[in-house]
Amino acid sequence: MPVYLDNAATSFPKPPGVCEAVCDFMQNIGCNAGRGAYRQALRADRLLYDTRRALARLFNIAAAGRIVFTANVTEALNLALKGWLRPGDHVITSSLEHNAVWRCLKRLEKERHISIGVVNCNQQGVLEPAAVRRLINSRTRLIVLTHASNVTGTLLPIAEISEIAAAAGVPLLLDAAQTAGVYPIDVQALPVAMLAFTGHKGLMGPQGTGGLYIRDDIELLPLKEGGTGGHSRAEEMPADLPDRFEAGTPNLPGIAGLKAAVEFLLRQGIVSVRQQEMSLWRRARQILCSLPGVTVYGPEDPEKCVGVLSFNIAGVAPEKAAHWLDMHYGIMLRSGLHCAPLAHRSIGTLETGTLRIGLGFFNTEADMDILADGLRELLLRKHQLA
Ligand SMILES: Cc1ncc(COP(=O)(O)O)c(C=O)c1O
Repeated sequence: MPVYLDNAATSFPKPPGVCEAVCDFMQNIGCNAGRGAYRQALRADRLLYDTRRALARLFNIAAAGRIVFTANVTEALNLALKGWLRPGDHVITSSLEHNAVWRCLKRLEKERHISIGVVNCNQQGVLEPAAVRRLINSRTRLIVLTHASNVTGTLLPIAEISEIAAAAGVPLLLDAAQTAGVYPIDVQALPVAMLAFTGHKGLMGPQGTGGLYIRDDIELLPLKEGGTGGHSRAEEMPADLPDRFEAGTPNLPGIAGLKAAVEFLLRQGIVSVRQQEMSLWRRARQILCSLPGVTVYGPEDPEKCVGVLSFNIAGVAPEKAAHWLDMHYGIMLRSGLHCAPLAHRSIGTLETGTLRIGLGFFNTEADMDILADGLRELLLRKHQLA
C-alpha cells in the first residue's frame, strides 16, 4: 500500500464528493459564469456565490464578496503585494517565507525600491513578536507573514503580531497556505487585512484554486485586466469586488471541487481535523526521535505547529532517502528546499535541504507503522546509500 506523506505540497486523496463535483460541473453545467442570462449560466454564477459563502463561513469573513478567486496562493500573494506596495514603502516579513512571498518582495525591491525588514527566526523556526514591533518605522506599509512554515511546521504567533500591527496601523497579510483547512482561522478575531490561501493543500480541493480575502479598507490595484462579464463599456476594471480582481474566465470545475471540499471540512469541523492530524504528528515525531542519527527540526510542542515535520538522516542525502523509501516501502515524502531557502538558512539546512513529512486528513496509524518500518530498514542499509 502506498503511503502518501506529501500533503504539505498538495493534499491527496481528496474527500468524497470532490472529484464528483468537478465531473458534475463539466458534464452538467459546463458554461461560463457572470456572462449569460440563461438558466444554466445562472447555475455557474450560483456555484461561485456558494463557494465564496462556504469559504467565508470557514474563515469567519463577514462579506463573502471580499473573497477573490485566484489560481493558487502564489497568485493571491502576487495580487496583494503588487497591488498594495508603492515605491519607497517598507515591508516586514520573516525568515520562514516561501518563495511565493520572497521572490515577489525581491522583485518589488528592484522595481519599486521598497525596503524589506526580515525578522529572523531561531532554529526551531520560532519568531519573537517583539522583533516585529522593533522593525516598524514610519514607512512600514505592510507586514506579510506565513501563518505556518512549510519547512518546520512552526506556527507564527499571529495573534500577538496582529495586535502589534493594529496598534501601529499597519495592515497584516497572512499566507495561509499551510493552515487553511487544518488550523482554525478567524479573520475578524485576529484581525488580518488580507488572507491568501490555496485550494489544493489543507482545503483539499483541486489544484488551480485559491483566493485572497481583502478587508474593505484595503484598496489594491488589479494584477490583471480583462473581461469580467459586466460593466463592459468601461475601459478600466470595475471598482466593485470581486469583479475588480477576477478578469478572465475562472476555473469553474476547480471551484466546484473546492466547494465540495470546503463543505466537507465544515461538516468535519476544523478542530477535529486538527486533533486527528496532530495525533499522527505526535506519533511521527516519536518515531523520528527514537531513531539514531536522525535530526528533527521544528517545535516539540504540537500546539506550536501544524502537521509538517522536517528531518535529516546523518550520512544520507535527503533525495536518496526519499527515493529509497518510495522504491522499497511506497512512502512518498518530499526532499529538498521546499521552495523556502530562507527557512533552511534559519534552521541550518540550506546546503542539504531536508526530508519532509506532510500529514493529511487521510493518513492513518497504519501509515505511521509503515513509516517506522521503512526508516528502520533504511538506517540498517544506510551504508548502501551513502
Ligand atoms: C507557505 C507557502 N506559501 C506558498 C506556497 C505556494 O502554494 P501554491 O503553489 O499553491 O501557490 C506554499 C506551497 O508549498 C507554501 O507552503
